[in-house]
Amino acid sequence: PPIQPFAITFGADNATLEPQGQVLTRRMSDLEGLFADADAWARAVADGDPVVYTVVSSPVPEVPRELPQSITTIQPGLTAGEFWMTKGHQHPDPQGEIYLGLAGHGGLLLFDGERAEWLDMSPGVIGYIPPGWAHRSVNVGDEPYKFLAVYPGSAGHDYGWVLEHGMGLRARRAADSGDLDLVPFGTP
Ligand code: PA5
Ligand code: NI
Repeated sequence: PPIQPFAITFGADNATLEPQGQVLTRRMSDLEGLFADADAWARAVADGDPVVYTVVSSPVPEVPRELPQSITTIQPGLTAGEFWMTKGHQHPDPQGEIYLGLAGHGGLLLFDGERAEWLDMSPGVIGYIPPGWAHRSVNVGDEPYKFLAVYPGSAGHDYGWVLEHGMGLRARRAADSGDLDLVPFGTP
């Protein structure tokens, strides 16, 4: 049956949706091949395999013409100086998407295969992802970074594209200052 109009309530901590659909948990082991330091990644997997992020979806299905939403919560953390992040993906059906910062401090890394862009994300900021730009979210703060995503139901998620092409930049914490340091993807 078609989806009927309905209202969604944010949980008090902005991390839950009511009504709620699927909940996805990504642990460190789900992020194979994504951090620059593969040894540090393997140690983190062996050492408890922590939850890196969760994605709570509304009940709107990912099918053409629907407009699903989800809230992602990325935990604060570093793997060999690289800030914890989402896997990142490209939409196989190139369509735009919007993110709205809800809590904490993050970044939205965008890569079209040639150019990389970084959008600083904090509560109240809308980050726009144009069609054709792969996207990854990064927690650059000390507390959980949360954002709402709204995207066309036909967009899909291509994770292989990011494994093949990278994301153009990596987000690290500078050892000396502790500041965000965006470095070219191939930097050892
Ligand atoms: O639709 C989106 O772009 C987001 O909801 C992401 O799927 C979410 O942040 C998790 O990231 P990823 O799908 O790259 O694991
Ligand atoms: Ni997306």
